[in-house]
Amino acid sequence: MKHPTTRPRVVLIGPMGSGKTTVGRLLARRWAVAVRDTDEDIEAVEGRSIGEIFVDDGEARFREIERDAVAKALSDHDGVLSLGGGAVLAEQTRELLAGQPVVFLQVGLADAVSRVGLGESRPLLNQAVGGMRSRIKQLLDERTPIYESVATLTVDTSGRTPEDVAEEIDARI
Ligand code: S3P
Repeated sequence: MKHPTTRPRVVLIGPMGSGKTTVGRLLARRWAVAVRDTDEDIEAVEGRSIGEIFVDDGEARFREIERDAVAKALSDHDGVLSLGGGAVLAEQTRELLAGQPVVFLQVGLADAVSRVGLGESRPLLNQAVGGMRSRIKQLLDERTPIYESVATLTVDTSGRTPEDVAEEIDARI
C-alpha cells in the first residue's frame, strides 16, 4: 500500500462525463475499500437534489456546500473519493486537496458529449445556450487548466473503458 490509511487513497476529479463515479467504484472494488461521492453526500445532507440546490440557492452557495462536503469526506473517509466536476473551481476546495493523491480523469469533447447525453440531468447543462456540445466545450476549455493544476496524476479516458482506466490508475498511483 503506497498511501497511509489516514487519507483517501485517491481523489478523482474531472469534468462531467469523465467517468469519475464508474471508475471510482471499480477502483474501490479492486482495492477492497469504500467509495464516496461528494454529490451523493450533498444530496443526503441537504435532502435535496443537486439540481434543486442550484435552482433554490444558486451555484455560488452550491460551491460552499460542496466545499464542506469535500472537507468532511477528506477527514472521515479512507478509500476512493469522487468529486463533482466543478468542485475544484472553489479556491478553498483546491486548498483542501493540497497533499492528496488527486487523479484528473481527462476526456475529449466527443466522449464527454456522448457520455453526459446518456446520463442523468445536470443543472449546468440544462437549457445550455447554443446547445449542449458548445457548453461542454466551454467548460472543458475553462476547467482543464484548473484540473491540471490540482492533479498529481492525469489519465486520458477518451475512447477507453472504465476498467482500462481503473487499471492504469492502479498501476500508476
Ligand atoms: C457539476 C458537476 C456535477 C455536479 C453539479 C455541478 C459541474 O457532478 O456536482 O451538477 O460544475 O461540473 P458530476 O461531475 O459528477 O456530474
